[in-house]
Amino acid sequence: MSNIRPTAPVELDDIQGLLRFGYKHHSQACFLLLRVKDPAAARAWLASAPVTSAAPAEPPPATVLQIALSSNGLRALGVPAAVVEGFSSEFISGMGGDPSRSRRLGDVGANAPSQWAWGADDKLPHVLVLLYALPGHMNAWQNAVEAQCAAGFDTLARLQCSERGDHEPFGFLDGISQPLLDWSRDRPVRDAEQLHYTNLSCLGEFLLGYPNEYGGYTDRPLLSPQQDPQALLPRAEDLPDQADLGRNGSYLVLRQLEQDVQGFCQCLHAQAGGDLVRQEQLAAAMLGRTRDGQPLLPSTPASDLNAFDYSSDPRGTQCPLGAHIRRANPRNADLPAGAPGLLPWLARTLGFDAAALEQDRVPSTRFHRLLRRGRAYGQDGPPGPTDARPTGLHFICLGANIARQFEFVQGAWLNSPHFDGLQGENDPLLGNRAPGLGSGVVDSFSMPRAQGADQRLSGLPQFVTVRGGAYFFLPGIRALRYLAQLGDKGDTP
Ligand code: HEM
Repeated sequence: MSNIRPTAPVELDDIQGLLRFGYKHHSQACFLLLRVKDPAAARAWLASAPVTSAAPAEPPPATVLQIALSSNGLRALGVPAAVVEGFSSEFISGMGGDPSRSRRLGDVGANAPSQWAWGADDKLPHVLVLLYALPGHMNAWQNAVEAQCAAGFDTLARLQCSERGDHEPFGFLDGISQPLLDWSRDRPVRDAEQLHYTNLSCLGEFLLGYPNEYGGYTDRPLLSPQQDPQALLPRAEDLPDQADLGRNGSYLVLRQLEQDVQGFCQCLHAQAGGDLVRQEQLAAAMLGRTRDGQPLLPSTPASDLNAFDYSSDPRGTQCPLGAHIRRANPRNADLPAGAPGLLPWLARTLGFDAAALEQDRVPSTRFHRLLRRGRAYGQDGPPGPTDARPTGLHFICLGANIARQFEFVQGAWLNSPHFDGLQGENDPLLGNRAPGLGSGVVDSFSMPRAQGADQRLSGLPQFVTVRGGAYFFLPGIRALRYLAQLGDKGDTP
């Protein structure tokens, strides 16, 4: 696998647009969670639904529609079990379908699936329809799509998004850091060590059917040509005698995360003793950026808020080790930073370099990147006594491997009380503070200082509660049409 240099162009017209575009200018968004009511009618709609592709369009479309399917949805549509089994085990089992997964994700206590508004038991969504619209176009668009879906589906929930601009409900600028996808396929695909952090990711980290950062192809459902007699599906790049149901598709993770904005503001106020400057410093330390997005590493140019890594701050005296963005993307490479040359490299690799050992506690970042596509919901302005609507984030991320990407980041980094050698704390913004996760109380946040003992906040309440969640497959457009006709025929490949 290590020396493949595939040169085939990427089929943008087969990829759903969300992979390539955040649809930022489409400031109106609504996500429909549907359950199959009449499989034949549901399949008929999926076979011709006007899905927007990743191909460039000028001017951009006024409205956009994307479709993703859960494993229960595939079954409800009549997709044969043998085909469903080709997907990853976490997708098949679902986000809320296994107590050990729930524990790892922090979905216990108030976050437990049994408490969710949707995503568990009889409230498992089958199909997710993501609607985006330029300002003023959503109402008519949503009504039209819902009318089209009515024969085949019941609506489980309508996740309306707010139009609050670039700042998420706690008041931080969001959507700054995203991995850069190698659309032109220039990056050599090999599993060699990478000595420096880079933001450029192999396509196969986010799209099935392309080489990933290991230089291999992530497992996905591959079918025999007999299972695709009309050659509706692309052929697999690595195994050309197989039809690739995964190619140009991605897994989509959706979590409804309710944010206690007032609780967050009150906590900052209390911890800072009412000092407004201190309050903002604490907020920035918890996130790892100021409210306007400036990272806490002073050498970062204001013209590129993403041009930094943490190699100059190994102890976290500038950006705390446990800050949200440092946990979510530690920006390290395969080996700790150090002097160039063979001998220093050997010392780091063989564990003779004490500083490197210290820095080597966090696994390499390039295998755990997330493409975030979430939208805020609830109140449009700052928190106030007149607006008591539940507020939060419809968190969405895309990736080719749910376990290695979303679940790893959520479980081993954000929610872990042992991340990077820390003790008794998890993500200061999102952590589940419920006791009984195997490590006692996790309500602290430490901010190391250059001199003297760490500053440590304690008694942090939980600011974010999970209200729903599910795993979906965002298929390539040809794969979507294939799946729609597959159940139709009742084929048992
Ligand atoms: C209510 C929940 C959340 C809030 C309020 C929130 C807020 C933010 C903000 C303000 C940023 C900085 C802006 C940016 O770099 O784009 C950020 C970055 C990030 N967040 Fe979150 N986030 C939430 C949930 C999550 C979850 C559940 C994950 C993953 C499982 C996650 C992963 C990330 C990642 C990967 C980054 C980029 C880090 C970097 O590359 O520097 N976030 N988040």
